[in-house]
Amino acid sequence: MEDLIQSLESLRTAAEQEFTNAKNQESLESLRVKYLGKKSQISQSMKQLSGLSPQQRPVVGKTINDIKKALNICYQVRERQLADEAKQKKLAEERVDVTLPGRTPLLGRKHPLTQVMEEAQQIFESLGFSVAEGPEVERDYYNFEALNFPKDHPARDMQDTFFVTEDILLRTHTSPVQIRFMENASPPVRFICPGKVYRHDADISHSPMFQQIEGVCVDKHITMADLKGVLELFCVRMFGAGTTLRFRPSFFPFTEPSAEVDISCVMCNGKGCRVCGQTGWIEILGSGMIDPNVFGFVNYDPEEYTGYAFGMGVERIAMLKYGIDDIRLFFENDVRFLKQF
Ligand code: DAH
Repeated sequence: MEDLIQSLESLRTAAEQEFTNAKNQESLESLRVKYLGKKSQISQSMKQLSGLSPQQRPVVGKTINDIKKALNICYQVRERQLADEAKQKKLAEERVDVTLPGRTPLLGRKHPLTQVMEEAQQIFESLGFSVAEGPEVERDYYNFEALNFPKDHPARDMQDTFFVTEDILLRTHTSPVQIRFMENASPPVRFICPGKVYRHDADISHSPMFQQIEGVCVDKHITMADLKGVLELFCVRMFGAGTTLRFRPSFFPFTEPSAEVDISCVMCNGKGCRVCGQTGWIEILGSGMIDPNVFGFVNYDPEEYTGYAFGMGVERIAMLKYGIDDIRLFFENDVRFLKQF
């Protein structure tokens, strides 16, 4: 027994030294197999216990376990040292300069039309308007008929569009949402309808798809003065203090009287320039007092209620606000253009 213990102790001394001197992770691993693996001398010596007396067995068994534990610790310490050394070496080789600033991620931004749309909505919401939406593929009834454009009325000519069937078309304006909203709500109502519209049109100031914001207010005693007040406030907030408005008589089938609204030219402050055709005024929207015939289509009593409506083109407002001279720039999505806003 003494011999066995003696040889185990010298094995331990040898193993400890070898573990401590292991040069790299691979040689340490083979030492682990050699001294702590299943076939190692230490593991094998467990088998010799059966040949010992019952008094000797626990003594030798304990020695074996103590040696195993000690060698395991020895192995782990060296293993940690070697892993640290390997990591330091790798860091030194890669020469990562951790003090360098990081790469700035490319930040996106909102499209200028989205910005103008949101700004307009905020202005109207602050004036108590709610927001309503309607379908872009619309029925002839809502796009024309209920807005008092009878079949074959010449006013339809200005709004040629894309027909799906004779009765279904891409809406040419956001005005049909007026009807859809009022069909489902009794007066008083005050809402705007933002959205995309479509027309058979394409040049530097017209796009086959563009966006509009419609506005409607119906209550008792609503007059054109209310319309003027709201639009003036909108234009001053959108284009800046000092913007003045001019109402010109016009015609829309769904308003009576109707007016087109001009603002003082944002480029020359009304002095006259190329953009305003030397007039000092720029047209920005159509408006008017809602025609009693329209109230007939939504069962509002025109004797009790009056209301105003207006409709504006979002691209046009953005073009004026930012001095953009070609509507197509909005849809080409060239980042050199977009990142200016
Ligand atoms: N829907 C008209 C258009 O696209 C614009 C318009 C004019 C809307 C007068 C209105 C309005 O609500 O009252 O040309």
